Amino acid sequence: MKSFFRSARIALALSFGLCSFAPLWVQAHVGNHPSVHDTVAGIIERMKKEMTAEQLREVTLPQVEKFLTAKEREILANEHITFKVNVPVHVTVLHDAKLANDPFWLVERGFKATGVSVKEGKNQFDAWEKDFPAGEVGLGVHALTGSGNHYLISLAPQNAGDKIQVIDLYPGNLRLTEFRSGVEPYVDQIDVLHNVPVELAGQTLIQVDSEREEDARLVNVFRWTQYPATEKPDQIVLTWSDDPKTTQAIQWRTSTNVKKGFVSFQKKSEFNRFNPRKPAKAAALTARLETPTLLNDQVVHRHTAVLSSLEPGTTYVYSVGDGSDGGWTELAEFTTAPAGTKPFSFIYMGDAQNGLDRWGSLVHQAFRARPDAAFYVMAGDIINRGAERNDWDSFFYNATDIYDRRQLVPAIGNHECQGGRPRLYLEQFALPKNGPTTIEAKRAYSFEYGNALFVVLDSNLSAKAQTQWLEEKLSQTKATWKFAVYHHPAYSSGGNRDNPEVRTEWVPLFDKYHVDLALQGHDHAYLRTYPMKGNQRVKDTKTGTVYIISVSGTKHYSQAAHDYTEFGMTNVSTFQVLDIQISGNRLVYRAYDIDGKLRDEFVIEK
Ligand SMILES: [Fe+2]
Ligand SMILES: [Fe+2]
Repeated sequence: MKSFFRSARIALALSFGLCSFAPLWVQAHVGNHPSVHDTVAGIIERMKKEMTAEQLREVTLPQVEKFLTAKEREILANEHITFKVNVPVHVTVLHDAKLANDPFWLVERGFKATGVSVKEGKNQFDAWEKDFPAGEVGLGVHALTGSGNHYLISLAPQNAGDKIQVIDLYPGNLRLTEFRSGVEPYVDQIDVLHNVPVELAGQTLIQVDSEREEDARLVNVFRWTQYPATEKPDQIVLTWSDDPKTTQAIQWRTSTNVKKGFVSFQKKSEFNRFNPRKPAKAAALTARLETPTLLNDQVVHRHTAVLSSLEPGTTYVYSVGDGSDGGWTELAEFTTAPAGTKPFSFIYMGDAQNGLDRWGSLVHQAFRARPDAAFYVMAGDIINRGAERNDWDSFFYNATDIYDRRQLVPAIGNHECQGGRPRLYLEQFALPKNGPTTIEAKRAYSFEYGNALFVVLDSNLSAKAQTQWLEEKLSQTKATWKFAVYHHPAYSSGGNRDNPEVRTEWVPLFDKYHVDLALQGHDHAYLRTYPMKGNQRVKDTKTGTVYIISVSGTKHYSQAAHDYTEFGMTNVSTFQVLDIQISGNRLVYRAYDIDGKLRDEFVIEK
C-alpha cells in the first residue's frame, strides 16, 4: 500500500465533520451510477476467460486499455468521483507526475496540462484542467496500474464572484475544504500539503479517499501462490474466539476436495502412544475462502473448530483431519490459560509484513529461545498485501510449527486493509466477538489471561467509535496487568507520524485506568517511551504507561528525536518476551534481535 509523503494512514473519515469553509455545502450522493467496482470485477472475469495465465501475469497498461470495451471505458472515465456544481467551474485534477499517461481518460476527455505543480517531498502533482458548465461533473478512476498517490481535485468558478456550491458528492465520505497551505488532501490520512501554488490557493479542494487509488487496478493485479492448498491440512493456527481458560479455536486449510474437518483431541496427561485412550472429536465449520485475482488455487476451504469445556491450565494434544482414519495430521499441542494467578510469559511482535522468510527465522528463534512463552501477540501489518492470499500463504508457511502450538493474538494494521475491508484477515482468524458494537465484529476484542487484561483495538477505524467500549473494559476488569494492542502508535518513532485521534481518544483512558504497556507497530523502528501520563513524561511505571513500537519484518524507517523517547533503535528487527512474575508482581520485558541478542530490557514493578 502506498503512502503520500510517508505511510501514516489512519481512517479519520468518521471524525471529519463538515469543514469550516463556510460558503460550501455538501450532501450525500443519491443518484444511481454504474459501479466502478462491479465494472472492474467484470473486466477481471473477462480477462481470466480470454487470456492465458502467463498473459495475465504480464499484462501491460496498453494491453489492458485495448482490452476495455467502450462501455467499460466510459464508466472508468466518468464514475469514480461525481458531484454537481451550481455555477460553471474550472476543474483541476492534480495528477501524480510519476503516472505519466495513466489514467487514459485525462487526455481523452480534454483535460489540459497547465504547467502548475504541487511539490511535496519526492511527490509531484501536475495540474490538468478542464471547464465544466453548471451541473454534473464526473471524474474517472485514479490509475489502471493502481500506483501513485490518488489525484486531488480543485475547483474554481469560471466567473469571478460566483460562489461554488457542491452537492451530491459521491462517494459520500469525501469532503470539501479550502485549498491552502497546511491542508489535509485526503479524508483518511493525516498528511498535509505545505506547498500550495498561488494559482490554486483559495480554491475549493475536494478531499479524496487515498485508499481508492487501487479501485481500478488491472495491471499487476493477478497473483500466483507458491503454496497452493492440498488435501492435507496446512496453515494450522490456534486463536481464541472465547475464554482462553476453557476454549480453543483451531483453524486450518485444505483444497476444496476436502468437504469437512474434525479435531481429535485429549489431555496430554491421558495420552499414551502405546495404549491410547479414545480421544474426543469435534466437528469444524468449513467455509470457502475465495481470491478471484489468484491465478492458481483461487478457492480453498478453511476449517474452524472451537473446542469448549476444556480444563484450565491444561495441555491437550490434538490432530486435525477430514475424519477418515488415514487423514489425521501429526500431533500438536496447546495449553489453556490458567484458572488462577500464575506466572506466564508471552511474545509480542510489530510488523512482519515484508521479508516473511526472514521473519520466519525470527519467529522460530523466538520459539526456540522461549518455548515456555504462552502466546504470540502481533500488532498489525502481519502481511504486506492483505487482499492477496499468496502473501498470507507465505506468512502461514513461515509460521509452520509455531502457531499450531502457540496461540496467535492478532491486531489489524493498515496493510490488512488493502482495498478497504480486511476480508482475508477476518475470514482466516476466529476471534472473540466481544468488541464495540459500533464497529464490525472481530476488528477489536478483549480477553483475560491469568491476571492480565488484553484489549486489542483497530486503529484503522475511528478511535472514537471504540472509546466507550475501551473504557468499559478497562473500568470493569480486576486484572493486575493491562495491555493495549493496536497498530498506529500514539507516540511515533518517526517524524510527523503521530496519530492524534489515538492520542486524544485512547491515551486519556490508558492514563485513567493505568494501562501498563501499549504494544504498537506501524513505524518500522523500535521505540520505548518513558512512562507517560497526560502526554508528559512521568517518573515511574507506577503512574505512567510505556508505549512500545517494534518491527519484526525487514522494512525499516528512520527515527526522529522526541522528548518522550527513552530508548530507540533503527534497522533492528526484534521479538519481545514479556514475563509476568507473580512473586513481587513484576513484569520483565526484554527485546531480542534475530540472533537472540538482548537489545532492550526493563522491569515494571507494581
Ligand atoms: Fe507496516
Ligand atoms: Fe502500518
